[in-house]
Amino acid sequence: MKLFADFPENYELIDAGGGRKLERWGTVTTIRPEHQAYFGAVLSKKEWHDSADWEFIPKSEGSLQGAWKKLKPQAPEEWLFSSAGLVFNLRITNNKHLGLFPEQQINWEFLSANLNASKRFLNAFAYTGAASLFGRKTGAEVIHCDSVKPMLDWGRQNQLESGLDGIKWVHEDALKFIRREVKRGNKYDILQLDPPAWGLGAKGEKWKLEELLGTLISEAVQLLNKQGVLILNTYSPKVDSNFIRKITSELEIPNKQVENSELWFKTSSGKELYYGILTRIYK
Ligand SMILES: C[S@@+](CC[C@H](N)C(=O)[O-])C[C@H]1O[C@@H](n2cnc3c(N)ncnc32)[C@H](O)[C@@H]1O
Repeated sequence: MKLFADFPENYELIDAGGGRKLERWGTVTTIRPEHQAYFGAVLSKKEWHDSADWEFIPKSEGSLQGAWKKLKPQAPEEWLFSSAGLVFNLRITNNKHLGLFPEQQINWEFLSANLNASKRFLNAFAYTGAASLFGRKTGAEVIHCDSVKPMLDWGRQNQLESGLDGIKWVHEDALKFIRREVKRGNKYDILQLDPPAWGLGAKGEKWKLEELLGTLISEAVQLLNKQGVLILNTYSPKVDSNFIRKITSELEIPNKQVENSELWFKTSSGKELYYGILTRIYK
């Protein structure tokens, strides 16, 4: 099933095509590589360049690493982006990401609707903490786990800027932490996993999505309360819907319900762009 996410407040995917996308983040507009944009763009090259502040030039095709090129003299290197009453620090770094994955709006809405002060939420592979902030805003107890220290610092800064407190920050390999939580008998109402295609744990543990996803899901579902929900975002050519369906069908949860959708955005210019697979497992 194709699921179209709405744009978060103050964000716009203006156009896409030619292997790139044009996006507005509050007052700042960027051009970033996007291999899913294999079709032609709607707006002209001139229109893209007239509106953009920054363009990311990858080191080589498909590389996450590269350098940002300033297209306007006043383009800021970091700025505050406000959305739904939360404030995120966005900045250019040596990779193409800016600190937020806007297509996650669909999960932020789900968390806002399903969490409250009596619920517990674990956000693992949590990046700069957008989902943690949306969870905490409802009053829920939030545990945020990521293996990269600067990401935790970035998340703390977002928490502060958003006027929130109380998120528990865990600097650990996500699978290790989940296994430890299973042993301790801890339970959660919602668990979100946003694992990268590959990565390293806090102590250099190798992470390969296609090899570890089955183990990760079967450990993670053990942390769910009765009626708990596991949200899984995957964005990797090696992990398609069939792969996830096979893994989830083998889970030993009676009466479980699995929703498996393709996540898409529609650009303001009318193009459709694929953003990976969103899976929800209801216990
Ligand atoms: C795709 S990003 C998550 C995006 C985020 N959930 C969002 O929507 O804003 C993946 C994150 O996983 C972290 N990571 C990579 N390997 C990890 C591991 N083994 N354990 C925990 N976190 C890991 C990275 O530091 C990164 O922050």
